[in-house]
Amino acid sequence: MTVETQGTAAASGAGATARFRENKHFSAATSQERVSRLAGRVIKAINATVLDEEVSYDEYNALKAWLIKVGEDGEWPLFLDVWIEHSVEEVANASRQGSKGTIEGPYYLPDSPQQHSPATLPMRDNEPGTPLLFQGQVTNVAGQALPGATIEIWHADDLGFYSQFAPGLPEWNLRGTMVADQEGNFQINTMQPAPYQIPTDGACGQLIAAAGWHAWRPAHLHLKVSAPGHQLITTQLYFEGDEHVADDIASAVKPELVLAPANRADGAGSEVTYNFILDPEE
Ligand code: DHB
Ligand code: FE
Repeated sequence: MTVETQGTAAASGAGATARFRENKHFSAATSQERVSRLAGRVIKAINATVLDEEVSYDEYNALKAWLIKVGEDGEWPLFLDVWIEHSVEEVANASRQGSKGTIEGPYYLPDSPQQHSPATLPMRDNEPGTPLLFQGQVTNVAGQALPGATIEIWHADDLGFYSQFAPGLPEWNLRGTMVADQEGNFQINTMQPAPYQIPTDGACGQLIAAAGWHAWRPAHLHLKVSAPGHQLITTQLYFEGDEHVADDIASAVKPELVLAPANRADGAGSEVTYNFILDPEE
């Protein structure tokens, strides 16, 4: 067992909660009418479930204990990003013409070290896994190159752990902000990520075990791609042949986001090309 596997749900949950608070990427501008409508509908939906399913006091108290534990374990970011965010993303990006987006998840960090393409993401000297060359071009919806494009990329390592959220990993490991060339082209050398299991020792893991579900997300690259005058897209890319592509616990896979890397001619791992298409600013 390496030091990385000693991470706990409480540690990664606390990290994700702190990260969310720091980013403050929301405003409190929701009107009273909207709060009343949304909160009212959610409460009504829960009451309808209780009545339909004839929920007992034992079940109600189990729910109460579990909700308290989600908070104690710092797992609200994890719970929401796994089971709810995909619908929010669907609404937010419904009118896009360009590349598909998907959920951000709890492990994004802004201001990762900037590098100019072609470049290799920060990694350990002995970083485990298979090298992956990820390359492509950023264009607008008319197919024109977008100079000044940047590709923020972050992903788990070969054991499924994210730097800054698991112990024993160097800061910024497998995270970077890549500046594309004048034609929007980028080449990023990294390591193939592994399938990721959401923390199983906290409240979310308890729910998964009690329900007989599984905790897996398919291996994925996280990306935020932007260019001047264009809408930023937050997305993920997956890998063909990964068994969890078909049953992602976070419901975040879309067919357009599945890559099929090929073995490199020089034998140095695999390579894949994916082009990003950005919508104009609204
Ligand atoms: C979670 C982790 C991820 O890496 C991700 O992309 C989405 C959700 C989670 O643990 O909740
Ligand atoms: Fe992830």
